[in-house]
Amino acid sequence: MAACSRRYMAMTQGEGMQSAGVWALRPVADMSQADFHDWQTLLEARTGVVISERRRSFLQTNLSARMRELGVNDYASYYRQVIHGPRGAVEWTTLLDRLTVQETRFFRHLPSFEVLGQYLRLRVARGLGKPLELWSVGCSSGEEAYSLAIMAAEALSGSETPERFAVTATDISQAALSKARAGCYSERRMEQVGAQWRERYFLMQPDGSFKVVPSLAERVCCARLNVLELAKAPMSGMDVIFCQNLLIYFRRWRRRDILNCLAERLAPGGLLVVGVGEMVGWQHPELEPVPDERVLAFTRKG
Ligand SMILES: C[S@@+](CC[C@H](N)C(=O)[O-])C[C@H]1O[C@@H](n2cnc3c(N)ncnc32)[C@H](O)[C@@H]1O
Repeated sequence: MAACSRRYMAMTQGEGMQSAGVWALRPVADMSQADFHDWQTLLEARTGVVISERRRSFLQTNLSARMRELGVNDYASYYRQVIHGPRGAVEWTTLLDRLTVQETRFFRHLPSFEVLGQYLRLRVARGLGKPLELWSVGCSSGEEAYSLAIMAAEALSGSETPERFAVTATDISQAALSKARAGCYSERRMEQVGAQWRERYFLMQPDGSFKVVPSLAERVCCARLNVLELAKAPMSGMDVIFCQNLLIYFRRWRRRDILNCLAERLAPGGLLVVGVGEMVGWQHPELEPVPDERVLAFTRKG
């Protein structure tokens, strides 16, 4: 039995708690190898995310927390509930948020945003044919998408068409997308946003949080998209695609397939930015690497 489960057991027994009233606090048994395999396989098949043996405790802790809420005490029964019928589908959407890492920040990898800034200024200087289209793939609670929007707004400010851009923000998690749509962030989450941009692009709320100004929010469209289903996605002709801190959880062959798919969604001359170290040695005949070793970025030929 895991140490934390033993501790829980000792706590509940020691305090003489009654089973009916403390169901939520009761420990869930350790996960067997067969249960681990089933859950690992389900998560990978549905999301691409691989839970290695090293992250087994992450899976167990998050599953058991949800099982305690539901009053289910073995992994196999819960697994059957999740894979069957419409109720299983609803439960899966809740569980998904517990099993995916949604950590994010504004301007998370600064060199990537510097490269983006240079790219956008150049595009604007050359004159835009159509509005700029940017895409945050695996946007989580929206910080990356709004960072892209701020960069585009800055590049276009002072031009005759400051609103000629749109950002698409996609994620598999509905809960993450709800936060992205709300576009409201606590002061702690705003650390990477300087005072000038806070003032320009956010409205301080009575509770001290910061809400994205409507003129920027309306340029950002949030939609659910599983990257395993990219082939069905309608996006094409994107000028900028950011895909950071998502592929790290996937197998190498899947990363390659997803990047190939994203490359095809780029407009000629478009920019693809991936997390540094997330895909070593990948090449695409249509893409040229950006010659800046601080970033992993490519531009489409033409
Ligand atoms: C660690 S966050 C990265 C957020 C942001 N891109 C960044 O770099 O800060 C990873 C996001 O990928 C999403 N995700 C995981 N699997 C996915 C899939 N198969 N399709 C789309 N999004 C997925 C998660 O819900 C999560 O919001």
